[in-house]
Amino acid sequence: MTMDELKRQAAAQALEHVQDGMKLGLGTGSTAKHFVDLLGARIAQTGLKVIGVPTSEATRAQAESCGVPLTTLDAIDRLDLTVDGADEIDANLNLIKGGGGALLGEKFVAAASDRMFVIADDSKWVEVLGRFPLPIEVIPFGLAATRRAIAGVFGACGLSGEMAVRQDGSGHAFVTDGGHWIIDARLGQISDAPRLAGLLGAIPGVVEHGLFIGLASIAMLAGSNGIRTFERP
Ligand code: A5P
Repeated sequence: MTMDELKRQAAAQALEHVQDGMKLGLGTGSTAKHFVDLLGARIAQTGLKVIGVPTSEATRAQAESCGVPLTTLDAIDRLDLTVDGADEIDANLNLIKGGGGALLGEKFVAAASDRMFVIADDSKWVEVLGRFPLPIEVIPFGLAATRRAIAGVFGACGLSGEMAVRQDGSGHAFVTDGGHWIIDARLGQISDAPRLAGLLGAIPGVVEHGLFIGLASIAMLAGSNGIRTFERP
């Protein structure tokens, strides 16, 4: 089975948990895209009544084209369930997200959800977070000062590694949906992700970071032997 087929399998498994009347957070990325696609097909086939909040402009556009009714977190308060992908998942269901640049919307929506299901192929499962470069969304203003503050936090956590401003295809700084930039930090192994998350979140120039701590309730990982489901301990 190809990686893309595995992602679709995980998405299909998550769809089984969607019930009439649910308010859903719709993730971003190639795996979440399968979920939105399957959700749209289910709505068309069965008349399932749900409403979604997209985590990015890309997902908004896709959901609209799939016929998924949408709203915003200005119009409604809480969500029943968010289904999203991840770049890394550890045994505590802490995550690195933001490889697609949508971490701010993703965290916003996950934090407003009663439950978050993470769907992925099983290559995303890691013993220790950090192999995937950690995305940190920053405001362009005062970038050098923010970088120094981030480096200070890494030092305090016993971490070191290269930081690079993410670029788009034409060599310019990648701009997020919120108009910010992203620093990708190659840290290797993050031994205390909750501590790092807290310290990064306190830096003024940091808008959000890609560590999702205590937000995921269930991970559905598709691999060659089928789907394994893990609950947050
Ligand atoms: C988007 O910003 C990310 O957080 C994605 O959810 C994550 O990168 C997983 O993407 P894939 O499903 O494409 O691997």
